[in-house]
Formats: sequence, structure tokens, C-alpha cells
Amino acid sequence: MPIIPTSARGGVITGWGTALPEKILTNDDLSKMMDTSDEWIRERTGIHQRHVGGSTASLSVESGKRAIEMAGVDPLTIDALILSTTTPDRAVPATSARVQYELGLSCGAYDINAACSGFVYGLATAHGLIAMGANKVLLIGTDTLSRITDWTDRNTAILFADGSGAAVIEAVEGPGEMLAWDIAADGSAEPLLYAEIGGFMKMDGKEVFRRAVRIMVDSAQKSLSNAGLSIDDIALIVPHQANTRIIKAACERLGAPLDKTAIVLHRTGNTSSASIPLALFDAVDAGRLQRGDLVLMVGFGAGMTAASSIIRWNGKGLQ
Ligand code: ACO
Repeated sequence: MPIIPTSARGGVITGWGTALPEKILTNDDLSKMMDTSDEWIRERTGIHQRHVGGSTASLSVESGKRAIEMAGVDPLTIDALILSTTTPDRAVPATSARVQYELGLSCGAYDINAACSGFVYGLATAHGLIAMGANKVLLIGTDTLSRITDWTDRNTAILFADGSGAAVIEAVEGPGEMLAWDIAADGSAEPLLYAEIGGFMKMDGKEVFRRAVRIMVDSAQKSLSNAGLSIDDIALIVPHQANTRIIKAACERLGAPLDKTAIVLHRTGNTSSASIPLALFDAVDAGRLQRGDLVLMVGFGAGMTAASSIIRWNGKGLQ
């Protein structure tokens, strides 16, 4: 059965913010630490550099503060904080509790973990809370993958990095921005990408690559079909920023030109939960969206999970 948003009460993004640690690690820096090269990393992944440092809470507070300021809302009027992260600062309590306190919020706060699909999982969850009566939700996607990366392992260290992106979503009368969403998981793929508690990321890169393209395309097609749209209706595709070759292959299968996608991974590397908001808000800030444009977000990650969502951009942030 297709899942179609039916609520008469929807939500729209009214403010956003991003944060990247100051410290930059270039491919040349990495080639001094392990047997790799700038040329190999650029060719096989598209990544030129990445930001590393900070904690999940500190980056979340930075991006969250910017989003709240841009939305112009009183922090005490926010009804829920959802923090998507694979790299909480502690096992207990949830990192969102600290972020809630440091941002001066008084609402309920919880973490979700759907790896790199987490921001899109969170977007569907935030709109669900709004459909159930919440007026303002703060959604943050943050990861500090550098803390669970083995900096001697060239299979993973070239990919992963740190960052954060946040959005304030406010209730509006009528259906709001979300036209469709899809979330997926296949737990049988757990051995392909995992980190034990306290351990480093282990990955079968080739198999993750192969499945990533398939599950991204499947999820995107489900959202398009649920919304009764074709890929040609979409103005901007915001894919998970893992590898330009994965993005190219997914675009080819979807029948979309690559210049319709938002790409920041050459500057950021793979920041997991932060990757989609970093790319989305970079595109918005660069003036790539007009009021009413349709945006398709699509992610995949450890689990393996996948998620997609189609929103109608409400025009906030346009000059
Ligand atoms: N530098 C130089 N050479 C390397 C490196 C490196 N960093 N890594 C591997 N190689 C070598 C290999 O040893 C191999 O050499 P050989 O041909 O002599 O055996 C050759 O390069 C090719 O290696 P492959 O593993 O086949 O390289 P591939 O083209 O598959 O690229 C990569 C590897 C970049 C990891 C790719 O498979 C990939 O991006 N996979 C998806 C990973 C991903 O997206 N993970 C994140 C998921 S999201 C989340 O939840 C965090």
C-alpha cells in the first residue's frame, strides 16, 4: 500500500543552519598517514577534503542555534527536538538531552539512529509530530564519524567526516511541504557496515556500493510513485553524500541529469546524518531553488537503511 500524507495540518521548514568543524583534512594529509593518494580518492569517491573535530553535541548546538535564529522562534516554544546521529557522545543519556539544555529548549528530546538515512527518517518523524499537534519541531542531523574511524585503515578513513545540519519545521494550515516519504531497512545487511560499541567502522565497500545504488533508486521511486510524480517534476535531488560514483549511478537509473543534484561531498566527505541537510541548505543558500520547486531527498546507510522524501520548497531563504 502506498503511504500518502493525509493530514490537514502540515509542516514547512522555516529556518536552517549548518556547522562544520574548523579542522580540515585534505587527501594529501591522508596520504601522509596511510598508503593512498589524492588522485585515487578523488577518482574513486569525489572527495577532496573533509572536516574533523568537535563533539556531536557541540556541532548540534551550533547548527541548531543558527536554525532557531533564522526561523526567529523563541526556543521555549519548540515542542520537540529530534537528533539523528550514529555517533552519540555517550551511551547514556541521549545526546539530544544535552543539546536541548544548551539550546535553552524546554521540550522533549530524543535521538534516532538510522545511519546516513537518519535525517530523512527524522523529517518524516517531525512531520508526523506536527500532524499530531506539535507546532514547532527542531530536527538536527549530526555525526562525528572521525571518532569511530580507524585512521590507519584506507578503506574507511578516506570517506568519513564530521558535520551537522538543522531545520526548524513549523506547522501550517493545510498539507504543508511534504508530498511523500519512504523509509526502508534490511537488517540482514548488518555485516556490510558496522562498528562495535567502542570500536571502529568496518565496511565491505564494494558490496555497500552495489546495494546503495539499488536501495536509493528503489526508495526514490516509491516516493515519486506515492506522490504521483515523475523524476522530471523534481527540481533538485539531494542524495546522501557518500561517493560521486554512487550518486552518478543512481541518477542514471532514475533518468535524472547529474546537474539536478546537490553535491557538497568534495568539501565535506561522508558526514552521515549531516550529509543531506548540508547539501540541501548549501543548494538553497546558493539560490538553486525557487518557491514551489520540488525537492527529492534520498539517503542510504548502515543497517542497511534507505529513506526518501519529496518536499515542496516554501520559498523561505529566497532573495
Ligand atoms: N587508496 C589507494 N588505493 C586503494 C584505497 C585507497 N584508499 N582503497 C583501496 N585501494 C585499492 C585496493 O586495494 C584495490 O587494489 P587492487 O586492484 O590492487 O586490489 C583497488 O584500490 C580498488 O579497490 P576497490 O575496493 O575495488 O575500490 P572501489 O572502486 O570499490 O572503491 C570505495 C572503494 C571508495 C570504498 C567504494 O567501494 C565505495 O565508495 N563504497 C561505498 C562505501 C560507502 O558509501 N559507505 C558509506 C555508507 S553510509 C554510512 O552508513 C556511513
